[in-house]
Amino acid sequence: MGLRETLLALISVRLFLAAAEVIPRVSFHYGSSDRLVKWFEAEGASHYTTLLLSADGETLYLGARETLFALNSSSFESSRHQHSHLSWKASEDKKKECAFKGKDSERDCQNYVKILLQLNATHLYTCGTYAFSPSCAYINIQDFSLEKDSAGNPILEDGKGRCPFDPDYKSTAIMVDGELYAGTVSNFQGNEPIIFKSQESRISLKTENSLNWLQDPAFVGSAYIQESLPTGNAVGDDDKIYFFFSETGKEFDFFENTIVSRIARVCKGDLGGERVLQRRWTTFLKAQLLCSSPDDGFPFNVLQDMFVLTPGGEHWNSTVFYGVFTSQWSKGGPGSSAVCEFTMNDVQRAFSGLYKEVNRETQQWYTYTNPALEPRPGACITNSVRRMKITSSLQMPDRVLNFIKDHFLMDSAVRSKPLLLQTRIRYQQISVQKVKGLKKVYSVLFLGTDDGRLHKAVIVNRKVHIIEELRLFKDKLPVQKLLLNPRQGLLYASSYSAVVQVPVSNCSTYKSCGECILARDPYCAWSGKACRNIYPYPAEPNVSHWIQDIEEADTEKHCRRENITIPNRKVNRPAAEDTQCQKIWLQPNVVSALPCKLLSNLASRRWVHNGEKINTSYLVMPDGNLILVGSPERLGLYECWSVEGGFQKLMANYCVGSEKAVKTVTLKLDTVKTIPDGAYVDRISNMSKSISPFESHLEKRTGKTYWNEFLIMSILFGVAVVILGLFLLYKHRDGMKTFLKPGECTDVQHKKPGKSGTPAESRPLTGNNIPSTLSDHKGYQTLNDNYIISTPLHDALVNSKSFLPSEKRPLNFMDTHVEVSPTCQRPRVRLGSEIRDSVV
Ligand SMILES: *[C@@H]1O[C@H](CO)[C@@H](O)[C@H](O)[C@H]1NC(C)=O
Ligand SMILES: *[C@@H]1O[C@H](CO)[C@@H](O)[C@H](O)[C@H]1NC(C)=O
Ligand SMILES: *[C@@H]1O[C@H](CO)[C@@H](O)[C@H](O)[C@H]1NC(C)=O
Ligand SMILES: *[C@@H]1O[C@H](CO)[C@@H](O)[C@H](O)[C@H]1NC(C)=O
Ligand SMILES: *[C@@H]1O[C@H](CO)[C@@H](O)[C@H](O)[C@H]1NC(C)=O
Ligand SMILES: *[C@@H]1O[C@H](CO)[C@@H](O)[C@H](O)[C@H]1NC(C)=O
Ligand SMILES: *[C@@H]1O[C@H](CO)[C@@H](O)[C@H](O)[C@H]1NC(C)=O
Ligand SMILES: *[C@@H]1O[C@H](CO)[C@@H](O)[C@H](O)[C@H]1NC(C)=O
Repeated sequence: MGLRETLLALISVRLFLAAAEVIPRVSFHYGSSDRLVKWFEAEGASHYTTLLLSADGETLYLGARETLFALNSSSFESSRHQHSHLSWKASEDKKKECAFKGKDSERDCQNYVKILLQLNATHLYTCGTYAFSPSCAYINIQDFSLEKDSAGNPILEDGKGRCPFDPDYKSTAIMVDGELYAGTVSNFQGNEPIIFKSQESRISLKTENSLNWLQDPAFVGSAYIQESLPTGNAVGDDDKIYFFFSETGKEFDFFENTIVSRIARVCKGDLGGERVLQRRWTTFLKAQLLCSSPDDGFPFNVLQDMFVLTPGGEHWNSTVFYGVFTSQWSKGGPGSSAVCEFTMNDVQRAFSGLYKEVNRETQQWYTYTNPALEPRPGACITNSVRRMKITSSLQMPDRVLNFIKDHFLMDSAVRSKPLLLQTRIRYQQISVQKVKGLKKVYSVLFLGTDDGRLHKAVIVNRKVHIIEELRLFKDKLPVQKLLLNPRQGLLYASSYSAVVQVPVSNCSTYKSCGECILARDPYCAWSGKACRNIYPYPAEPNVSHWIQDIEEADTEKHCRRENITIPNRKVNRPAAEDTQCQKIWLQPNVVSALPCKLLSNLASRRWVHNGEKINTSYLVMPDGNLILVGSPERLGLYECWSVEGGFQKLMANYCVGSEKAVKTVTLKLDTVKTIPDGAYVDRISNMSKSISPFESHLEKRTGKTYWNEFLIMSILFGVAVVILGLFLLYKHRDGMKTFLKPGECTDVQHKKPGKSGTPAESRPLTGNNIPSTLSDHKGYQTLNDNYIISTPLHDALVNSKSFLPSEKRPLNFMDTHVEVSPTCQRPRVRLGSEIRDSVV
């Protein structure tokens, strides 16, 4: 009884998790011919962490460890010598020095390229860690070589304040009008974070360390928004540079080491102060980015990536910020993540609202409610400030600059509810594209996971539909970077070991009108004959009769015409399957399994026997296999239909005969018996276009245990007991169903709980045994105790190596009790005497 209870509890937790999940409609396994992924890998090269696309989209520049590449987009996969490459190794002196200072000579004392930016029409600017001695260099685009001095040595600049020392440190950099703005650390120990603007000829500016403007930040991105446009407007604002990062939230003193996500900004025209804040930012302000679950307020507080979708030019005010967040605390399962969307309006409201004030003695934070000073501290020079005869930050009154020293944090957060919330998937990277569909413009999200997968999703009425899932990398390494090439309709993704290129869509995988409409892919439309790409815009000018229905995916409305125009062809039924069926010979009292793969993870199955829907006297396994025991009434024609939103498609067709009747057996019974093997399923119904990795995993698992048990049972007890066993299994299953999920929740257990090939149950719920995907971080531990406490906290989360922080928290799963109310409520967690909703 105890075991049964534990099992049921486990299952119910899993069902709850599965319910929150948004399942990709179709999944393509690694190397699928339907979604060809081109692959680049060079011998000896690794850590492809920096990607840059040339202005014309023809060339992809790639920064890796000790080397850089210029790849031709149109011949991406060709061998290495067809691409240009450039070796940029740290000098032997620096490597020795680095090893002498106690760094790992293999891991740390190399040159990891962290910055690669377009400087001007002829040159790129690059920075690398250069064996813990960051350096920057110029690359001549023409011949893809480092710019050299007259003696033939590469011209190197000090990269301090631009590029981190440690290859694992998360930093960001952006080039604006030939000036580099970087968010990084400026010292060897890695405990002096900085936002730095530098250019040889002009004043360099930085954040003030003694004022703690930054608290162990992990930068994820930066953006340039031309808020001065249109020129000559009444406000006369300045252009701004935004930085996105997570850091220790000192304003939350009730939890130690609470991480918060931030958006920070500086004005492009900032020149620093004259007497106060000399060579420091006078416009540095930051605000919290808050992405939390709408039902229980569970915070996704660790920003992993930010994509700034901006129409540019004078329409900058419709810029949208898309962030991918994970949480410092675990919410059951191996990991969770959320995608939140913030508008420019919300961001501006936070930056023009109240300030927070820090009491330097107690380090406590309060809302500053006194009337704000004039000119407004931290704001850029606008026309109204110019009217006060202040034309640059050098002329700002000292009282304004002194105020900003302690009032750099905004009181209100920029809030958002998740567009997408996953409890078993850790998104790491995001790229967004506006796609012009046939009728409307849609936002398409590309999301990279920490195990090498890509999700492509479309936002429909503030809901996210995941169109497809692709496995990009053979090894389950995290996706490091995503980069869209909109001109060529391509997406690049990099991991530590390889870079891949994949078209944003392949509409020809959808073979019928129904599939094309159900896909809800804004890149695709049904032309009446085939599912066709409409992006980049189709060669055919006449698309007026093409069909796309992203909002409703109404196949009955749009695909009906087809039934009428081609009446003598059974639409949606593959021609070959019409007349042919897979022949199965049943032996008396022997069990056979008929597999049925579905087209889509969102479809349901309908088994039909001799034209009638099967009833409960038939046994269908959770993976959809129909189990037949050889008996006369089970002979005949079986069809398995995929049913999705009114659209049906025949997926498998079996003619089951008895072996006695036909002596000339062509199909060996052995093969039928070994059906549980996933590969065999493919052979039987090879029209199924996609295999969900989880599904095949489940199939293998249930298939195997089932067969082992069956064989043992048949040997021991013979045929009668087998039938009894099946009967019991069937009853047990029914009982479980009613016990667990009454009412509307019953169908939940048929949903595939996850897509990862790794069985989720092999991971402990706290997740702290998850194997490290990265090399260890001894480099950090030799640095500085202070730093270890804070930064690896980010890092641990970033790299999904462990969820150790959660163990220290009161929200630890193991210390809490889960209650599942019978009416499909979310589990509640007891924390001593207080109850928190759904923080599992
Ligand atoms: C697109 O799908 C078709 C049909 O499934 C396949 O033959 C083709 O190779 C695919 N193309 C790419 C680029 O994935
Ligand atoms: C890229 O490859 C294509 C086809 O191989 C070729 O036509 C083109 O000239 C190449 N572009 C560059 C910049 O090398
Ligand atoms: C681009 O920058 C490099 C390095 O500063 C300089 O030598 C070169 O003349 C510049 N090119 C143009 C076209 O401005
Ligand atoms: C952007 O600004 C224009 C003109 O200043 C205004 O008409 C428009 O409503 C604004 N859009 C948003 C999203 O605020
Ligand atoms: C486009 O197709 C529509 C409907 O099929 C037809 O009426 C129209 O004449 C076509 N236009 C052109 C330019 O071919
Ligand atoms: C079109 O065909 C599908 C599949 O055969 C069928 O379910 C649907 O009812 C048909 N629609 C009409 C209007 O006949
Ligand atoms: C199921 O269907 C079979 C044949 O169609 C019928 O003989 C049997 O009585 C049905 N059983 C139930 C429980 O409805
Ligand atoms: C399906 O399998 C049959 C026999 O196994 C094979 O002849 C046929 O080419 C396969 N079709 C596809 C589309 O792979």
